Amino acid sequence: MKTTVSVIKADIGSIGGHICPSAGVLETVRTVVREKGAGLLLDSHVSHTGDDVAILMTHGKGVGAAEIHGLAWDAFVAGTATARSEGLYGAGQDLLKDSFAGNVTGAGPAVAEMEFEERPAEPLLFFAADKTDPGAYNLPLYLAFADPMNTPGLMLVPNIAKGFRWQVIDVDYTEGDRVIELQTPEELYLLAALLRDTERFVVEAIWSRATGDLAASVSTSRLHNIAGKYVGKDDPVMLVRAQMNFPATGEILAPFQVGHFVAGGMRGSHNMPIMPVRQNSTISYFDGPPVVSCAAFSLHGGKLTGPVDAFDHPFWDRVRAHVSDKAVEIRRQGFFGAAMLPWSELEYTGITHILEALDGRFQVRRAPQAG
Ligand code: F6R
Ligand code: MG
Ligand code: MG
Repeated sequence: MKTTVSVIKADIGSIGGHICPSAGVLETVRTVVREKGAGLLLDSHVSHTGDDVAILMTHGKGVGAAEIHGLAWDAFVAGTATARSEGLYGAGQDLLKDSFAGNVTGAGPAVAEMEFEERPAEPLLFFAADKTDPGAYNLPLYLAFADPMNTPGLMLVPNIAKGFRWQVIDVDYTEGDRVIELQTPEELYLLAALLRDTERFVVEAIWSRATGDLAASVSTSRLHNIAGKYVGKDDPVMLVRAQMNFPATGEILAPFQVGHFVAGGMRGSHNMPIMPVRQNSTISYFDGPPVVSCAAFSLHGGKLTGPVDAFDHPFWDRVRAHVSDKAVEIRRQGFFGAAMLPWSELEYTGITHILEALDGRFQVRRAPQAG
């Protein structure tokens, strides 16, 4: 029997600004998942990263199952009621539709799902990021699945050396899902040309070419495309299977030591370095820095053993200190140049209004005519 792993996450309200959900909200979500999930789910785990609550579920219903999505929706609606009763900030922020219509995709919550035949031992990594968008995973995935400088398995393990098939989505296209598939290593440079543009082209899924097995699945929703206005950053989740014919867990974690610059932070409108943090971490400096957590599980017969907190290790303390330095450094230049996102990516409309107001005051100076 195939197992499906679904992670559905939403920001449904937080304490003290956009810092973290309350114990009451988490308890409400856990209670609904436990009660409504009885007989439906094989296992589940509810956690938060920054202000986002993630429901990780294992089941046999396949990808996009209405019962599973409906369960998460109900849990978030109930959690929102708790958030409202506590006066939390942004209660129900990511529930953009009034009612559930069979699938949460496009309704606000972020979704990453995988269906696969379990291996006898199935190491599974669940990543959750806050205060950034799904392009944040482009670089770590590229390094882990395509660069032998990061992943020696690409040279040392014949099945990994056969490479990977990548599905990349154009997240600016709103008429439907505009996707492309590329194969590495042959099309590495073509993949690189897309993935450098993290605001437009986002890795959605990766498969092993040796076995055809799904290796990674990323949530790719763009909230501002769904809502047509600023409603917060997308705060993406990702599932990655590790070991054997896939990169090892350490090869998948290693790229996060870069603390690369991503879109996000304050008002979703800056470039800030992403910090690998412990599970259930909060948000602080400059509504950031953007954070990513990783919960490592072993999956067997749909049952989850774990999680182990993959970034809770002394090694990452040093990375965190370095990322803090990078964050302070870029903040020294405030809104200038690379510190702030380009106009098209700003999540608030203030600058648009200013540009509109100033438009008529511009004068075109023409070069004097010769002779
Ligand atoms: C970033 C984020 C925050 C808010 C900021 C202002 O993704 O959520 O930085 O943009 O705290 O929040 P509002 O506009 O809700 O007052
Ligand atoms: Mg929020
Ligand atoms: Mg968030």
